[in-house]
Amino acid sequence: MSLVVINEIEKLRNVIKDYKKQGKSIALVPTMGCLHEGHKSLMIKAHSIADITVASVFVNPIQFCPGEDYDRYPRTLDSDKIVAESAGVDIIFAPSVNEMYPNLQKFSDLTMVAPPYELTDIMCGKSRVGHFDGVETVVTKLFNIVQPDYACFGMKDIQQLFLIKKMVKDLNFPIEIIPCPLVREESGLALSSRNKYLSEEQKKAALSLSKALFAIRDLSNAGIKETKKLFDTGLTNLDKNVELEYLEFVDFDTFKQVNEVSQKTICALAARVGNVRLIDNIVLEV
Ligand code: PAJ
Repeated sequence: MSLVVINEIEKLRNVIKDYKKQGKSIALVPTMGCLHEGHKSLMIKAHSIADITVASVFVNPIQFCPGEDYDRYPRTLDSDKIVAESAGVDIIFAPSVNEMYPNLQKFSDLTMVAPPYELTDIMCGKSRVGHFDGVETVVTKLFNIVQPDYACFGMKDIQQLFLIKKMVKDLNFPIEIIPCPLVREESGLALSSRNKYLSEEQKKAALSLSKALFAIRDLSNAGIKETKKLFDTGLTNLDKNVELEYLEFVDFDTFKQVNEVSQKTICALAARVGNVRLIDNIVLEV
């Protein structure tokens, strides 16, 4: 089947209804477009587990905080179609803002889905106040529109993955969340749509983020489990042009901070290089 692009909710619902009547399973890959190999890996996974793969491409205004890059976020639907088709995607759902949020005068008028405060007042949620409310709200809408059996999310956005898994459990969505591994460039840099903003010079500085995480992992593998020591190693590996926002060690299943590396500890960071905000993380094992 070749790729189709659908912009209207009603039209997508009808197409999905037909597939469901035929007993076909559906996998959803929510994205904001500017697709790269990281997104593609999610689509390939989705295609391997379900009969029909739907990828949404929607730059969701309500998850951007004031002063963030909503207006300049890259919109590249033509090349996104090529990536999606090569990954076996059947349908791209690319709604307009008005289709998703009709006649919305201000975002505070919208019914929102919000994760618990103590899970958003840490890591990315701390500096991006309201961001995860915007994410959970749009993902809920996408789940209700597409009604997938599976939804694939990348471990690149590890706090987002954790919160979506919790939301699905707390709100009884009949959807299996499929976590997908973080994909990196050969250099180690985590693939991100925002890498497009980096100059060559900034890219060099950005490389030190993964370098710091790899150094932490190596030390942890060598037997140093105290996160304070690992933190210090991380800091010494960061380029001077990197402005660190956080470097945290949390448990994968609870997102509580840990002082010692244990089974499935996540070491996650966010940092700015110039005015580009980047995130990365690594899983540490005992
Ligand atoms: P976006 O940043 O476009 O990412 C879409 C999906 O691709 C997310 O699940 C993200 O974790 C995954 N992804 C991005 N880079 C990746 C990489 N290098 N390796 C593996 N997976 C990667 O995340 C969002 O969009 C939005 O918040 C969204 C969930 C679509 C809601 O608007």
